[in-house]
Amino acid sequence: MRDLSYAAVMARKNAIMKASMGMDYDTFALSPVAFDYERMMRETGYSLEDVARIQADTKVGNTPLFELTRLTEAVRRTAAPGKGATILVKDEAANASGSFKARRASISAYEARKKGYKGLAAATSGNYGAAVASQAAMRGLKCIILQEVFDSKGIGQPEIVEKSRACEAYGAEVQRLSVGPELFYQLLMTLEETGFFNASLYTPFGIKGVETLGVEIAQQVRARYRKDPDAVVITHAGGGNLTGTARGLLAADCKARIVACSVDLGGLHMASDSDFNRKSFTTGHTGFGVPFATWPDRVDVPRNAARSLRYMDEYQLVTQGEVFYVTELLTKLEGLERGPAGNTSLTAAVTLARQMDRDQIVVVQETEYTGAGKHHNRQLSFARENGIEVRVGDPAGNVPGKTIVLPEHLDQVRGRVQDMDKLRRSYLKNAAKAHPVAAWTEADLAFLASDLKVDAAWVQQASAEL
Ligand SMILES: Cc1ncc(COP(=O)(O)O)c(C=O)c1O
Repeated sequence: MRDLSYAAVMARKNAIMKASMGMDYDTFALSPVAFDYERMMRETGYSLEDVARIQADTKVGNTPLFELTRLTEAVRRTAAPGKGATILVKDEAANASGSFKARRASISAYEARKKGYKGLAAATSGNYGAAVASQAAMRGLKCIILQEVFDSKGIGQPEIVEKSRACEAYGAEVQRLSVGPELFYQLLMTLEETGFFNASLYTPFGIKGVETLGVEIAQQVRARYRKDPDAVVITHAGGGNLTGTARGLLAADCKARIVACSVDLGGLHMASDSDFNRKSFTTGHTGFGVPFATWPDRVDVPRNAARSLRYMDEYQLVTQGEVFYVTELLTKLEGLERGPAGNTSLTAAVTLARQMDRDQIVVVQETEYTGAGKHHNRQLSFARENGIEVRVGDPAGNVPGKTIVLPEHLDQVRGRVQDMDKLRRSYLKNAAKAHPVAAWTEADLAFLASDLKVDAAWVQQASAEL
């Protein structure tokens, strides 16, 4: 008989992880913080060409890149003379299951099938569940998705409820949980009981799958405009979207500025039952974006392959109201009805394009499908049902969890930036909790410098101030 107490299951965590992925993370470890990241990525055994071939088999990749001519024109009308970059969007909604998450799930599904696992399991409330379920369906594998859907009153966030339906439609079993710490425990029990492959969002297989997105952007922009994009804007939650895309851009030798973007939900607590249904965005927001950027290893695998500060040049914040406004604009000007996550980076792209020169190019790196509970009109009525004021005005008046202000004009879509050094220092504080600064070696400093896209001298100086 297995001991299923919380403590006993947690104590078996490393063995369960090893069995459910066939990967031993201990072999990459250099210290309590440092590890050989590139070797971990390489040892997946998949080249970019392999990944593209595998994805083509399951309706993933080669998505269209559209020039948003009418939106670009509208932004130019709010810009200074000579300003107003061309805005392009990579239509990732065209992937099977409707988002870039199909890229992320595709290699895990292939690997699981190759190694003889009977099914896939993943803990995710987002598009990733639908992506895993859809890839599992095409590979003839079973699938279990664990989701945090409800608050303690049993009220489900409409977007997550919609994703439960999507997962079930693709044939997955969905375990619906309320907000709380039991998700990881439940995942471990499921993996142990079923012997399924752990299709965690944060494995190197997942991030390898996203690299093709960056490569395609570089190739498509070059083919059409005979030059590289100047900036690529990427919606950030757990950071895998940014990490994989940026790695793909680098592999294609494209040096575009990498801009992260999240919806500002400052002041709302993600683990809080009462705040759970006071937000209109279930991903791409700071409630995930900041903690994951500043400590990636808070996940369901020993080391996270999604390490966004390694690649990020800038981090833009936008408000919920601005994203809803730009969502309407995309629909009405460009005839594309798309979901909240991609439209978050589209919103930041409006601000960036306005500041950039006319002959420059900014790429919005993804779209996602929308409809039902994901639709912005459903989210706005849900906000009202939860006592949140929705009004039109200056988006500076947005208060997460209290007020959503929809801008009156496009020139009110302004966003703001986060202080990158503050994020980096916050990461170092977290690293110091895992491994005291006094014990940091040259190897630790080198790892931390790469993880933060700075030099070792910066790390040394910042750590002296901790
Ligand atoms: C469509 C879409 N875009 C962006 C993101 C953010 O990706 P990441 O969590 O890797 O930062 C998500 C994640 O839920 C998503 O579903």
